[in-house]
Amino acid sequence: MICIQIRIANCLAAITLLAATSADAGESADVIKQRIGSGDPVAGKSKSTLCQSCHGEDGLSVEDLIPYLAGQYSAYIIKELRNFQTGARKHPIMNTMAKTVNDADLADIAAYFASLDKMQGGGWGKNTVAKNLFLKGDMSRNIQPCVSCHGINGKGKAPDIATFPVIGGQHKAYLRAQLINWRDGQRTNSPGGVMNIIAKSLTDPEIEALTDYISGL
Ligand code: HEC
Ligand code: HEC
Repeated sequence: MICIQIRIANCLAAITLLAATSADAGESADVIKQRIGSGDPVAGKSKSTLCQSCHGEDGLSVEDLIPYLAGQYSAYIIKELRNFQTGARKHPIMNTMAKTVNDADLADIAAYFASLDKMQGGGWGKNTVAKNLFLKGDMSRNIQPCVSCHGINGKGKAPDIATFPVIGGQHKAYLRAQLINWRDGQRTNSPGGVMNIIAKSLTDPEIEALTDYISGL
């Protein structure tokens, strides 16, 4: 009996600790709820089996050119899906995939991925060039600091500002591909072309350093 009580006490302590850790990471229930939006994550889970086959059941894809969707803003996921549907964002696989989703299911599917534990990097590589660009930018070259839009550690701004995707902890190869797409004008779907303007000035070594840094956050 005593033994069971001790176990329960330990368990409660562990739960409290977990809750404290999540709160530290800004993941309160309220924050997660706002990120999920109006869709139903439970319905979304069963509606997204096809998506999960590439993006992972936990939203953490294995293939490094397939982005993590875990903890991404539902509003951003919905916007990208619509952009893939209309061809405003081009990718042969996703242009086809997006057409399999109807409007009614889209909010639920996005809610499911948004409800998952947010993508998390394994630590940054101590590259101060990248850290400076991320935190301070270089206004002489039109590079606004990434942190000003993508938030602290690239984890997004307030959950009700879903224009700016979570990028911290995303796959490095995917981030690199997107920055190159923005720079080359292959991807043009950011509001006001802001990411094209920023990426235009980034050199290859800067993209390498930045994506290494951001994927670790
Ligand atoms: C066969 C693999 C595959 C399947 C299945 C798939 N995706 Fe994707 N998805 C990708 C790849 C690859 C990309 C990266 C596209 C790029 O490079 O622009 C992507 C990108 C995305 C993005 C953009 C994420 C970002 O950070 O900008 C979203 C959102 C997305 N997929 C949602 C879905 C949904 C919802 C489904 C199910 C209807 C789905 N995907 C099915 C491979 C897949
Ligand atoms: C003025 C605001 C702003 C700044 C500053 C900014 N971004 Fe962005 N970024 C955006 C927006 C908005 C999007 C989403 C575009 C869309 O709607 O598809 C985005 C998208 C991205 C994406 C694609 C994410 C994905 O999941 O596909 C990457 C990578 C990215 N930004 C990297 C950076 C880096 C690196 C910096 C700093 C050098 C930076 N951004 C600075 C606004 C900004």
